[in-house]
Parts: sequence; structure tokens; C-alpha cells
Amino acid sequence: MAATGWYSLKCLSAAAALALVPWLAAAQDIRPPYEPISALYQYMQENEKLDDAVKNGDRAVVRTHAWNLWAGMMQPLTNEENSWPIWFSWQTTHQAFALESGAPAPRAQPPRRVRSATAETPLPVSDGANVDVSTPQPQYPVPTYVIKTWPDAVTQASDGSYSVNDGSYFVNNGDIMIAVESLSQEAYEDIRGRKLYLKSTLEDAFKAGDKIIELPREYVSTKLMYWPVAAEGLTALPVWTENFPDFYSGYAGYELWNSVVAIDPGRSRDGEWVDVEYLYGVRTHEGAEIPPQRKRANVVSIDRFYHHKVTQADWDLFSDADKAIINAASLWLSDRPFGVGDYLVTVASHIVTKEIDSWTLQSVWWSRTPDQGPYAQNRPRLPEAAGPWDHYLMTDAYAYEPDASGNLEKSVNPYIEGVTHPIATSCRNCHVRAGIGATGYQTPLCYGLLTPLTPDSACFDGALLTDFSWIIADRAH
Ligand code: HEC
Repeated sequence: MAATGWYSLKCLSAAAALALVPWLAAAQDIRPPYEPISALYQYMQENEKLDDAVKNGDRAVVRTHAWNLWAGMMQPLTNEENSWPIWFSWQTTHQAFALESGAPAPRAQPPRRVRSATAETPLPVSDGANVDVSTPQPQYPVPTYVIKTWPDAVTQASDGSYSVNDGSYFVNNGDIMIAVESLSQEAYEDIRGRKLYLKSTLEDAFKAGDKIIELPREYVSTKLMYWPVAAEGLTALPVWTENFPDFYSGYAGYELWNSVVAIDPGRSRDGEWVDVEYLYGVRTHEGAEIPPQRKRANVVSIDRFYHHKVTQADWDLFSDADKAIINAASLWLSDRPFGVGDYLVTVASHIVTKEIDSWTLQSVWWSRTPDQGPYAQNRPRLPEAAGPWDHYLMTDAYAYEPDASGNLEKSVNPYIEGVTHPIATSCRNCHVRAGIGATGYQTPLCYGLLTPLTPDSACFDGALLTDFSWIIADRAH
């Protein structure tokens, strides 16, 4: 395929459609041809072996698979330098949950809020303490520059506050992280084909007494978190080095972390110590101004991260909401707008697949010391893999037997769960709850944050589960 062939060709048809139906501009599929995770990275190549390894608690086999999936997901789409990873060819929640007409769906839930059946009332958790699972998050008022520049990309709530809409590539996370919720082609087609984007489909199944909407074997979904990095100078990134107590359930977002690195696109100052300043226009949960943070930071070359230099062609593809999301992030982080030539770097990623019935759940985050500690274990050698996939740490939450106390191991991503959920929980415990009816993050019957729940757990009687997919439960409209 010619290097830029798909851009010009598809953009032409998008432009032609735009003349007829204005909203098609946003809905038009202008992605490169779909590229799945390659079999080189064991995707769908060892399902039975993996299933056995999970049952036998063979962590080395499981984690080797998990590392492969992560590296596979980040492989470049083309041979060109600066290629996007393969996810760029995948549909996102924006397309999967579009209205029947193809027009974008209204945002189903406010950003940075996790569904909790008990938003106000603390309930006992597994350690017996009383814990309110709705961690109080800082406020990120949308910068005026964003509201003025992309007025159609923001929505005003009844209290006058603004939020940025979801873009066609990026999802508004309500903070500095720029999220991508991408779906394998099979996942996307299943959601569209069975109309799982409609609440009525879920409700009909619920009324018919169905217990679960089973998703297909080739279902893959991700949540990839990007961080905006200026082309010039150094950009701050808080990094996770702390250790919260085992049952810490308060707010643990990156705003509070003490360790910070300074990302250097010049690639010449690795190891230097510098002063950085970051966080502008951010307020506490109660609304008090948080002054910009000043910290000593260790300089790290941008080559230690998966990164992409945003091109004019990218900018032309992005919707106004994509541009608004990225700009809001950059203004909150560095008090400067973001433009062509600046970088997006990968700081954290969730990847889940249904290669096995009990799902594969894994998550990575960037680290300055990626060879240390339990999250560095079992990293294979992948000589074929492009990029610094081995500069990240990984947690996995496969369906292992519970520990001696009857609980699941803690498994969270500090960048992602830190900003919304208690730290003492697990991907598995929370995602198995996805559904409608008597589900939710904590319910009187299923209150334990680390209880090894399965779809068959009695506390899901009277619920319709959506097979580990929160986006289906949350975004159906
Ligand atoms: C306390 C609950 C909770 C925990 C813990 C949690 N998640 Fe999620 N996750 C959610 C919710 C809610 C969404 C939906 C957000 C939305 O609608 O955009 C989500 C979204 C996702 C998505 C996007 C697709 C989907 O299925 O909704 C992936 C992938 C994902 N999480 C993986 C993980 C992994 C891996 C972990 C563990 C490291 C994890 N999550 C931990 C609640 C949780």
C-alpha cells in the first residue's frame, strides 16, 4: 500500500459524504485497514495451554502470554518511522456505541466516575473496615481556551460546568490522561451486529431471564493512556514508586505522587536532575485551587516510552473533540496548548481478551526501574518486538485460585485505578460485575473488593451480566 494512500482516498470520500450529511464527517470510518494482534505474539495461539496454566496457577506461562499481548498490541502499523501502533486501525467506543444512524452517541456517564451501587453509603469490605468506594477526585475544569476554540466539542451541564465530549480516537478521561478504548474488529462487529449498543437489547435479554450476554472468543478491548509531551523542552510525568497500605481505599491519583520524571524529546539529557513545574488550573475535590507542583525530576529520554509525534495528517483526521481532549490535557499539565509536532507517549495500558472463557486481564505502566519487583517478573525475550515494551511493569489478574485468606490478589494499574477506584481491588473482581440489574461496584450481596466472584456467584442472581465488559453496561443508550 502506498504510504499515504489511505489518507487521501478515504478523506476524499469523507469529504464527499460531508457535503450530503453533516454528521457523517464524525462517523465516517477513516482508519487504516484493520490489523489484529499478530500470531507472533501468541494471540489466539495457545488458548488451551493458557487455560490449563491458569487452572494450575502456572504464573510463568500466564505472564509470558500477557507480556506478549502487550508487546503485540503496540507493534507499529506500518514500516514507517513514527507509525502508530496497531490500535490506530481499530474501532473505538465512539464507533461501537454510535447511534443507529452512525451519529455519535451522547456520553453515557460523566467522566471519572465509577458506577457504585452505594455512592453515599459505606459498606463493609473484605477486611471488615467501612469504606466508601467513591474516592473524592480533584476537579479539572475545562480550560477556557478549549471551550472557545472547539465550542462544539464540549457539553455544558445544568450546573454550568463543562466537560469535553469523546472524540473519534480518544475518550475524555476528565484529567491529563488521554484514553483510547479500542476494540478488535470481532468485538466491534458483535456490538453492532447484536445491537449491544442499545439499552433495549440488554433490557430485553434481562426480561427474558438471560443471565449473561456472552461475548465472542476474538473479543479484545483496551484502555490505553497517553500523556501529552511538548516537542521542545522537558515535560513532567509523575511516576508510581509509592507503596500504599494493603487496604488503602482513598484517592491515589498521580497528582499526589512524589516521584516525577522529566521527559526529554531531545534525547540528550538522560539522567540529569532538573526542576519541573506541572498541574495548572486543577482544584481539590472541594474546589480549592491546587497550586502548580514544583519537584526535582530525573530526566528520561522519550525513547524509553512508546511515543508518537503527532503529524499534520493525524491532526486532519482527529475530530474537534479529539483535539479538545488533547489540548485540555496539555493545558492542565503544562499550561500550554498542544499542536502538530508535539508527542503523545504511552504511560499505561489495560488489555483484555477472551482467548479463554475466564478472560485474560493484564495491565502495564511505565517505570524508571522496569527490571525490579514482582511486576517485572517473567518478562520474555521478544527480539522481534519493536519499541520499548520492556520499560513497563505489568500486573495480571487471570482466574487463579484465591489466596490463603480466600481473596484475589490486588491487581490495579496505578495510573488508571489510582484516579477513580480504591487501590485495594482487582480487575477481575470489578469487571465480572459488569452488567445491568443487581450489579455495580459494591452491592450489599457482593461487597468484597477482592472476593473471587465469578459469573455464577449467587450474588449475581437477578442481574444480566455483560461478560466482563463495562463499556457495554455503561455506554448502551
Ligand atoms: C473498580 C472497578 C474497576 C477496576 C478495579 C478495573 N476496572 Fe476496568 N473499567 C471499569 C469501568 C467502570 C470501565 C468503563 C469505563 C467506560 O465506560 O468508559 C472500565 C473499562 C475498562 C476497559 C475498557 C473496555 C471495557 O471492558 O470496559 C478495559 C480494557 C479495562 N477496564 C481493563 C481493566 C483491567 C485490566 C483492570 C485491572 C488492572 C481494570 N480494568 C480494573 C471498572 C474497573
